[in-house]
Amino acid sequence: MDQISESKIIGVATPRVDGPLKVSGAAMYASDYHFPGLLFAWPVCATIANGTITALGTAAAEKMPGVVAIYHRANIGKLYRVPPASGFSLIVDEKRPPFEDDVIRYYGQYVAVVVAQTVEQARAAAESVNVSYKRQKPDTSGNLLHSQLTTDKPDEKSKRGNAAAALQSAKIKVDEVYTMPVETHNTIELHASVAVYDGQKYTLYETSQAVVNHRDVLAQMLGVSPEQVQVITKFLGSGFGGKLWPWPQSVLAAACARNLGKPVKLVVNRQMMFQNVGHRPAIEQRIQLAAEQDGQLTAVQQDYVNHTSILDDYDEGCGEITPFIYSTPNLLVTGGLARRNVGNPTAMRGPGAVPGLFALEAAMDELAVKLKMDPVGLRLKNEPALDESLNIPFSSRHMKECLTVGAEKFGWSKRTPEVGSMKRDGITLGWGVAACSWLAARIGTDATVELRQDGTARVACGTQDIGGGTYTVLAQVASHQTGLPVSKIEVVLGDSSLPPGPISGGSWVTASVTPSVLEASKNAGNALLLAAIKSEGSPFKGKKQDELEFIEGTVRLKGQSQGAVPMSEILRIANARSVSGTGRSDGTFGAEKPQYSFHSYGAQFAEVTWQPEIARLHVSRVVTVIDAGRILNPKPARNQIEGAIVMGVGMALLEETMYDPRSGAPINNNLADYVMAVNADTPAIDVTFLDYPDYKLNALGVRGVGEIGLAGIAAAITSAVYHATGIRVRDLPVRIEDLLGPSGKNIHVA
Ligand code: MOS
Repeated sequence: MDQISESKIIGVATPRVDGPLKVSGAAMYASDYHFPGLLFAWPVCATIANGTITALGTAAAEKMPGVVAIYHRANIGKLYRVPPASGFSLIVDEKRPPFEDDVIRYYGQYVAVVVAQTVEQARAAAESVNVSYKRQKPDTSGNLLHSQLTTDKPDEKSKRGNAAAALQSAKIKVDEVYTMPVETHNTIELHASVAVYDGQKYTLYETSQAVVNHRDVLAQMLGVSPEQVQVITKFLGSGFGGKLWPWPQSVLAAACARNLGKPVKLVVNRQMMFQNVGHRPAIEQRIQLAAEQDGQLTAVQQDYVNHTSILDDYDEGCGEITPFIYSTPNLLVTGGLARRNVGNPTAMRGPGAVPGLFALEAAMDELAVKLKMDPVGLRLKNEPALDESLNIPFSSRHMKECLTVGAEKFGWSKRTPEVGSMKRDGITLGWGVAACSWLAARIGTDATVELRQDGTARVACGTQDIGGGTYTVLAQVASHQTGLPVSKIEVVLGDSSLPPGPISGGSWVTASVTPSVLEASKNAGNALLLAAIKSEGSPFKGKKQDELEFIEGTVRLKGQSQGAVPMSEILRIANARSVSGTGRSDGTFGAEKPQYSFHSYGAQFAEVTWQPEIARLHVSRVVTVIDAGRILNPKPARNQIEGAIVMGVGMALLEETMYDPRSGAPINNNLADYVMAVNADTPAIDVTFLDYPDYKLNALGVRGVGEIGLAGIAAAITSAVYHATGIRVRDLPVRIEDLLGPSGKNIHVA
């Protein structure tokens, strides 16, 4: 399709079409579904992190009020493994079906599930199941770079030139280790599964970022064909990647419904969220940089190790951005995995890029200090002309403009580089900057658009709205092509029986689905023109289809507004309830020989205030400039970036899942002890979109936003902390005790 530059609705700030449903409580989330005869399931979670089950006593629990059944390895029935697959199909993080053996590999692993009449009865009985274990010492430790890996040596992820030689001969070097703790996706909506089985078919109400994959995985695990499973997710209370792939509670709920012939609801509670449904792994990264005195990089090496579970290999992919963000002749990225007694890690907002850029951009700041060079200038100096890792051009890259516009908006020219040299109202300021990037891609998508006699249109696609505004932007795209107002367009998503759509992941939905919806709208318009020339009584009867056009919701002779007939009138004459068209756009993700390097870019500028007298650190201001292609709807787009910045404050200063080394249990497994950024932690946020359409990716030039906002922000903050305090914190999160200095030297004693 040709590139689209002019539009009355694309790029216009449009309120969310699903807003009224959400604020009135009418939006249905997974656990809102209720059916006659519904039973409640509650899992029994292992209280050790390593060992085997020696006995499972259910006799007492079975006699408790309301208990219907207790399932475990001996009686749950057959559950299958998902066979290995490639691409975006049959993805599941925890490949072992629940209860497959008696081995416990992480704290909280499901060992049984109780079904009862009420949720309280199910929980009480689950807590009364007696499980005996043979215990072994669990390992949840950090110190990853120096521990045993799953492979003999780390994998080479990207390589050019000879980084080792360049590093050895370099005069100016940075060589530091950066660490990140486990972070838990604390979506407000808990993971939940409501399973209905009619003897043939499963209908699963899930909180899923990928209903089509969820259907295919559950069909495999349950041993039925995909036609026998339907997955529905109309709304998500966010996901952050934690709901991309199915977790064991889903197949447990389905198996209970199958075994009992009754609908079953299983809600994972907040404590279980910390152990049973993924997390961002603990990560250690060694970054080595070498540069000339003028700041030109001569070598970049990144070696990362992330932890993974005992059975599954989750690679965080921290080196994703490193190979193309800067120009350097010599580069090496390696990655390795170290097994720990934890549930399987999974993608969490900006997987790979976000941790990777924390380390790389923090190291770039250290290099700027060594060079006595402005950190913005250092980045401008190393801007590449093309993607040097693949030797292909960038589709559309405006990194320099992100940095210069951001510097201007932030007032960067007023920065004095000496530590602690900037004050406002007697309070010490720290200013830091980081560059960021995130991959852009299209995932193969089918969509249909129906034009209806009642004057409305229906857009359907088997993708989901994670909360980022997908319902709204698809209504805008259909509105653009049909001329119908957004209020006349119904968007139907979140059902695996719809034409297969992409995962709500990677910030790829907008780029992937908009081309299909455009094409489907166009094809639906052609079907309408056919009705106009073929139907008895139509003023256009006998005309050729190419003499007509469908524009502004009407059929007319090309270029003539006179005699235009509304779509609904044509359909009435044809006595057709509707006409429809389909659209298909292919994926670009994982292309073997890509022609262009597709990414979004940005610059993050952060200000912290530091009051050593009371040891108070606060992120006071963030300016962010994002180059994410054309912005389809600035309202939710801005909201995505703002939310990511707030999450970035949490990543930099607050978030950390802690494990008790003795039991292997996540001990701060609640919203009181796992501290996240809240309103009081939120800085003043200034978001600018450069808005350059990327027509190499699709007709509208959209790349999508979401994850890019979190990239770089932690490094901007830790660099600002250094600028304010002189203390370089390389282990997230930054703690107040880190800032007190080796002997409390940062505390001013009167
Ligand atoms: Mo996002 S971590 O790709 O859901």
